[in-house]
Amino acid sequence: MAIQATSVQDMYNKMREKLADVVPDVELQIKAEIAYEINRLKVEKNAIILGHNYMEPALFATIPDYVGDSLMLSRKAAQTDKDIIVFCGVEFMAETAKILNPNKTVLLPASHAGCSLAESISAEDVRWLRSQYPGVPVVTYINTYADVKAESDICVTSGNAVAVVNSLQSDTVIFLPDEYLAKNVARETGKQIILPTRAGNALEKMHAGVDNGMKANIELTSPADFQMVGWHGRCEVHDKFTVSDIQAVRAQFPDVVIVSHPECSPEVVEASDFSGSTQAMINFVERTEAPRYLVLTECSMGDNIAAANPHKEMLRLCSVRCPHMNQITMEDTLDSLRYNQYEINVPEEIRVRAVRAVERMIAFG
Ligand code: 13P
Ligand code: SF4
Repeated sequence: MAIQATSVQDMYNKMREKLADVVPDVELQIKAEIAYEINRLKVEKNAIILGHNYMEPALFATIPDYVGDSLMLSRKAAQTDKDIIVFCGVEFMAETAKILNPNKTVLLPASHAGCSLAESISAEDVRWLRSQYPGVPVVTYINTYADVKAESDICVTSGNAVAVVNSLQSDTVIFLPDEYLAKNVARETGKQIILPTRAGNALEKMHAGVDNGMKANIELTSPADFQMVGWHGRCEVHDKFTVSDIQAVRAQFPDVVIVSHPECSPEVVEASDFSGSTQAMINFVERTEAPRYLVLTECSMGDNIAAANPHKEMLRLCSVRCPHMNQITMEDTLDSLRYNQYEINVPEEIRVRAVRAVERMIAFG
């Protein structure tokens, strides 16, 4: 929850209590002024700020009314009665908030904050997949744009993908667009997966299901051999973590507990001690009694966990950052509120189709 402060000095004092171990004092002094002004404007404009778990610590701890993973923030967006939603996250998240709130102003503090997964698939790709697998339900990761959601039956996040797939009354599902999340879900649901490609109209078949999600290039002969159709999208951040990274860290720190996001490869997930959505990872570290952790996801989340768990040591692999999430700064969030920028809009014809898939996800429980 946002810090309620009566003055800049009060904001600075409260920020120090939370962040003194992870943010240098010179930075706290600057950020306290900005945070105070953002929270003042937020009230004046009847706005709500939603902050993804990847936001940098000073922003994360001070201005969002709610922080969380994509699923939690979608729920908060669906529930709010404020006039303006400022989304400190990336474009597909703000777009989802707009899909749910067509009559509210939804603002993203950067003119463009994309996502390699959202960019990996088009609405036309989904229509092509439906034509190849008629009658098979389309389950779409929330990390997609509105036009792709509009072609889908239900959205999922990493927080509920396994439960949603298990709940569908269909042995076979199309699961888009994250190849690794699909393989991780396939393994957990006991499904075998193929990854079709439109190039040359040939099916590139990969067997990645029931054993451990890691067998590749085994020819499958008939649709009876698979129950999940995936796609080739990858997160440019989680794709970079490797099993040898894990082995090297374990060799150096034998007591480390390793936690990974399911956008990591199945091999990395398998080599980790726990895997889950960003919020599930935060909760796992909080409830686990071990001295040292490595969280394989955007590195700023390690800072946020460290701030909340001062007696736990967080190791970080920070050479891999999400350039899109890192677009969002406190300075730009202040400008966002001051100048109503950058407004997210979704054409109504797309929104009315996309909202069905998003609302099904929210209603899923
Ligand atoms: P979560 O839904 O787990 O927060 O993940 C969003 C994301 O983009 C991870 O890279
Ligand atoms: Fe997209 Fe990956 Fe960045 Fe998440 S971390 S927003 S999946 S590029």
